[in-house]
Amino acid sequence: MGTMEKRKLNNNWNVNSWKNYKLLQQPTWPDEKKYNSVIKILHEYPSLIFPDQINQLKYRLTQVQEGKAFLIQGGECAESFKEFSEQSIKNKLKILFQMATIISYGSSIDTVKIGRFAGQYAKPRTSLTETRNGITLPTFRGDSVNEVDFNLKARTPNPDRLLEAYHKSTATLNLIQPIIKNKFKNLKHFWNIEMLNHSKIYNRFDKTIKEVNKSLKFLNTISNDINLFSEKKFNEFYISHECLLLGYESALTRFYNNSYYNASTHLVWLGHRTRNLNSAHVEYLSGIENPIGIKCGPNLDLKDLESILRKINPLNEKGKIVLICRFGSKDIEKELPPLIKMISKNKFNVVWSCDPMHGNTYKYDNKYKTRNFNAITKELEIFFDIHYNSITNANGVHFELTPNDVTECVGGIRNIKESDLHLKYETSCDPRLNHEQSIELAFLITDLIKTKR
Ligand code: PEP
Ligand code: CO
Repeated sequence: MGTMEKRKLNNNWNVNSWKNYKLLQQPTWPDEKKYNSVIKILHEYPSLIFPDQINQLKYRLTQVQEGKAFLIQGGECAESFKEFSEQSIKNKLKILFQMATIISYGSSIDTVKIGRFAGQYAKPRTSLTETRNGITLPTFRGDSVNEVDFNLKARTPNPDRLLEAYHKSTATLNLIQPIIKNKFKNLKHFWNIEMLNHSKIYNRFDKTIKEVNKSLKFLNTISNDINLFSEKKFNEFYISHECLLLGYESALTRFYNNSYYNASTHLVWLGHRTRNLNSAHVEYLSGIENPIGIKCGPNLDLKDLESILRKINPLNEKGKIVLICRFGSKDIEKELPPLIKMISKNKFNVVWSCDPMHGNTYKYDNKYKTRNFNAITKELEIFFDIHYNSITNANGVHFELTPNDVTECVGGIRNIKESDLHLKYETSCDPRLNHEQSIELAFLITDLIKTKR
């Protein structure tokens, strides 16, 4: 598609034009000189993801929009420097691959897997500061900015952390590179379920996996080519993170073949708190070729979103925009239909994805941020229902999850209670689904695709 043409539509864009717009959610770096020197270093560093890989995701999202594939995006709310390890990366991948296998097999649909991985280190926050026992400190903004510990040194933004985020993203990507490059051969590795041996969901999962293995064996006996084909699809994986720290994002933006690409990831998304026509984030995103997620939450300004879509996707390209709806189970019935109406009226090309996590957060005992599994499933069901009764399609889902056996979201098959939250509450940001709850949701999504799509 004519990128020259696209830039003609936004003549004033350049990698730094966002600096002339409304800057939201940026940390105050105390040592500006040091910050500038770090940004300069990042500007020279190698790309993590290349244009052909980004264009490939765009093509796959086109298929998602056309209903030929289903999108599964998920991972941590925030990746953590402290939990960075080979095992934790492998386990996170495993969950997404298991969910995708359950959904693909159970509902006979191809899936596109995108991780909130390899760069999801920065967080938007509602408050600038946090107060505990009368002491007020800067809020935690993700490991690429400061530390979660509650003391002044830890909470002071430190630009060296941006470099660490880059290096950790690179190392994460290095581990998953054979998958991304379709060179990973041992599929069974992802299906091993020792983590769920104790669970009531084990039987259903075990049965699904046995059936998948049987089908693959069958395909193998009739043709080697088919097996190769299924392996190729199974291997496919993409990465994503929130486009938040614009200094970092623009330092890693590269010019190839007359176009600009954010070379740190395949897809970036615009958060609920920075989604504003005049925001620096919208300006930056309007100049890059990557697919872009847009979070849509309660009190959405439809006129503003309409203008944002015209600015970010002026040629109305397919596979470019993923609308990630996160209204909450209470607001979705009121908010989603007018949004669908606006998009349909304008014939905007979008992928419809549901994030049933962020609109269902509440605080228990003034201490534990949590989400109720029933509210999560309810929002998903309503999302599918509304699309089922409209000309649009439920195209995908967006989750925060962890392979660990945490107690952060209440409910689910083991019925975690609010009074159990303290048992294994480990998140530094939002409450995540544990492994068991994630698998349970994959079965629910399978059923929803089968009945409501
Ligand atoms: C997130 O995805 O972690 C997030 C902060 O979401 P939102 O912008 O939808 O609140
Ligand atoms: Co979150």
